[in-house]
Amino acid sequence: MRFTPLESCLLFKHTSLFNMRIGSFELAHNVFVAPMAGVTDRPFRMLCKQLGASYAVSEMVTSRKDLWDSLKTSRRANHDGESGPIAVQIAGTDADMMAQAAVHNIERGAQIIDINMGCPAKKVCNKWAGSALMQDESLAMQIVQAVVDAAMPYEVPVTLKMRTGWRADQRNVVSLAKQAESAGVQMVTVHGRTREQGYSGFAEYDTIAQVKAALTIPVVANGDIDSPQKAKLVLTLTGADAVMIGRAAQGRPWIFREITHYLNHGSSLAPPLVAEVKRLLLQHLQDHYSLYGKHLGVRSARKHIAWYTQGLPGALAFRKTMNTIDDCDQQLRVVAHYFDGLAQLSDRLQPLENTSVLETST
Ligand SMILES: Cc1cc2nc3c(=O)[nH]c(=O)nc-3n(C[C@H](O)[C@H](O)[C@H](O)COP(=O)(O)O)c2cc1C
Repeated sequence: MRFTPLESCLLFKHTSLFNMRIGSFELAHNVFVAPMAGVTDRPFRMLCKQLGASYAVSEMVTSRKDLWDSLKTSRRANHDGESGPIAVQIAGTDADMMAQAAVHNIERGAQIIDINMGCPAKKVCNKWAGSALMQDESLAMQIVQAVVDAAMPYEVPVTLKMRTGWRADQRNVVSLAKQAESAGVQMVTVHGRTREQGYSGFAEYDTIAQVKAALTIPVVANGDIDSPQKAKLVLTLTGADAVMIGRAAQGRPWIFREITHYLNHGSSLAPPLVAEVKRLLLQHLQDHYSLYGKHLGVRSARKHIAWYTQGLPGALAFRKTMNTIDDCDQQLRVVAHYFDGLAQLSDRLQPLENTSVLETST
């Protein structure tokens, strides 16, 4: 990416990697993986943490009691073997239900509760959850207060994830963030887009800078961070305490060590060895099957395999084959074979095209 002279100057003025706290939890540093439903399940979160993310929040789980025992919710609530702090994101529209969901998850091991006010999905928004809550500040704050009060006896910190507002002329994240801080929320994450934008256009960071300036609790900047340089730039432009990376980590979980290395040393790491990527992906797939079972796992793994191989030589034909395979052992064998072939071309991963996952998301 290219920077203006001002951006370049800002970029090299600060060191931005530092320890931070959420309530009583001290994190090793301030580079986080974003919650992504259908992506950041337990296997992927563990991989991101292994490769340098200091913190991960679960995919959102519903506040609807009737769904708590469903297979989907119990998979989302699976944290077996994951290093702490265990952070669970809850989504819903009713203050009492959200408070009960907080307690339910705390009693099952959540050490931090995150409230979802950022998701633009219709499924969530039509029921006035996710980012739709930002339209109704009074309801949003009832929910926040109820969750904070419910978590307090357990000494579990509550955090909040928002967008900048519902649409461009209704950017109310600063107001909501200040109210949330007064209600006892201990960290706020802001994705620099409005709900109306979905994932289109660009994230803007001025509003995140305003949130940071208005609060004393930690503020996390999120949106369109897809390189170590961009992470540093966003930290500098917003003054935020941490950055959170979502789509750019899909198929590239080593982005966290690339970012932390750059923030620490100001230099870029070489791309990963093909042999390492092969090992990581095979490990990821095994862990994926163990969570989803073989039948679903072999199918739901395809998207991850597609992300890992995006832009690599022969990837199109490889992915076509991949979509016809419905046996885990065969999937593992074909993946291993593809990466063995790649290793003959080059030791290190060398995408042919620089296709950013940010351009390909919905
Ligand atoms: C597939 C997908 C699923 C997502 N699911 C959630 C979610 O469950 N909870 C949430 O707060 N945000 C969710 N998000 C939003 C991300 O956490 C993040 O705010 C957004 O992708 C912007 O960051 P990025 O540009 O680094 O991807 C999701 C995003 C994607 C692409």
